[in-house]
Amino acid sequence: MQVDSDKNYLLKAIDAFPHRMVVISPDYRVLAARGHLNATPDAAVAGRLCHDVFFHRSDPCAECAVKTVWETRQPAWSHRRDEISGADKVSCLYAYPMLSSDGVIEAVVSLELDLPPRTRVEEQLQRANALLRNLITSAVDGVIAADRNGKVIIFNDAAAEIFGYTVSDALEHLDVRNIYPDRMEREVMRQLRSDAHGGRGKLRSYQVDILHRDGSRIPINLNAAIVYEGSTEVASIGFFHDMRDTLRMKKELEKAQVQLLQAEKMASLGKLAAGVAHQLNNPLSGVVLFTKLVLEDYELPSGAAEDLGRVLNDAERCRETVKELLEFTRQTRHLMRAHDVNQAISRTLFLLKNQSLFQDITIETEFDPGLPSVHSDIQQMNHMFMNIILNAAQAMSGRGQLTIRTAYVPDSGCARIEIIDTGPGIPPDVLPHIFEPFFTTKDEGQGTGLGLSLVYGIVENHGGRIKAFNQPGQGAVFVIELPITSRTDGDRSLE
Ligand SMILES: Nc1ncnc2c1ncn2[C@@H]1O[C@H](COP(=O)(O)OP(=O)(O)O)[C@@H](O)[C@H]1O
Ligand SMILES: [Mg+2]
Repeated sequence: MQVDSDKNYLLKAIDAFPHRMVVISPDYRVLAARGHLNATPDAAVAGRLCHDVFFHRSDPCAECAVKTVWETRQPAWSHRRDEISGADKVSCLYAYPMLSSDGVIEAVVSLELDLPPRTRVEEQLQRANALLRNLITSAVDGVIAADRNGKVIIFNDAAAEIFGYTVSDALEHLDVRNIYPDRMEREVMRQLRSDAHGGRGKLRSYQVDILHRDGSRIPINLNAAIVYEGSTEVASIGFFHDMRDTLRMKKELEKAQVQLLQAEKMASLGKLAAGVAHQLNNPLSGVVLFTKLVLEDYELPSGAAEDLGRVLNDAERCRETVKELLEFTRQTRHLMRAHDVNQAISRTLFLLKNQSLFQDITIETEFDPGLPSVHSDIQQMNHMFMNIILNAAQAMSGRGQLTIRTAYVPDSGCARIEIIDTGPGIPPDVLPHIFEPFFTTKDEGQGTGLGLSLVYGIVENHGGRIKAFNQPGQGAVFVIELPITSRTDGDRSLE
């Protein structure tokens, strides 16, 4: 029990307390209150609900220190920003129970306290730090920071995805020098310290490979900086942008552009060729017809008959070329059916093997007996094989070995046909042009340069692919892949 003078001082102390002090009953009613009551006289609030008086709410506040005291019987506190003053002032409510002699909570005292300025700064700092951490963690690029000894001190989720380490693994065990292959970390540091890429201590858009945990290399666009304290290097930080998707897209785009160019070239040349072919067709038929008539109807001196025979031959050769041109521009009607590719090749070989050009050529065939049929136009198929096989025989100058293999490729659902010769192969400067119309390396009269462009068109027409390359020790290899038949809905005509 205090003596009266003590009590007096205590009451004065309560009066002098510069903030709000409230005694609250179990049903949240104000039993007594001191100070700062929004211009309401202290006595006028007694008996009213505390959340109504101080916060203008109909229910108790969500994070109420008083409520916690009722629940835990322990002192409690809660943060609160002073909304009324509008200032960036942080205060706290400290509440403690008033216990009766038999341990029952009679009431709760709630004190409003200003937080000391230092704590406010700390809180702001903490908040700023949390924001920074959040920014780094959620960054799209991999972020890695390391101290001067190479110890990783920041490693975000995107870095974990690119490098294949878990964040905790990297923080505990990873040495930042080991993320580059071939000691590239030295080069990166050298570039960082030089002026070459965005100034001293900075590295902008530097292309480098990094090592994934599994040993594979990943192309990266790296932005990095050295962190200085004064003039001393204390750490380095890198932003790793995974370039795989970008590079893949670039490659696909380049491929598409090449294909587009090829297609455009084919289309414009096709139109030109079709026009010329139509114009030549009629007069050529006339030349052939009348030469034949002269040969049949007149008794010619033998020299003249021989010469006319040559005219006829050459005119017929011209007609062949015109036919190829028309075929190339697809001016003829095509009939698509399921066809056995092995049979188509055999038929072409049967036609060719008795020709003098093939007399000294050994023909090897390795046919896949289970090759599914291909939805195709048989005339075009014959034409395609004929052109490639003729080229091979010409390249070998009539002497060597021709190997033809067929196989089913289940992965791509394709029939694969390989045609291999033992000729000199295709020179590297010729290879990129062989499918272009009118491209030929043969002497005049020997080649039209239309064969392979026709082949290309036919393969495209059948939804397939063709490539040519050289096999060391052997000659040229042509590989054609044609999608196998899946249609059962009958035949289809292509105009
Ligand atoms: N098997 C091969 N070996 C070497 N070169 C080839 C082969 N096939 C084609 N070529 C090259 O491709 C060119 C184009 O072939 P192609 O379009 O059939 O026209 P052409 O046979 O009328 O010259 C040929 O001139 C030749 O240089
Ligand atoms: Mg040819």
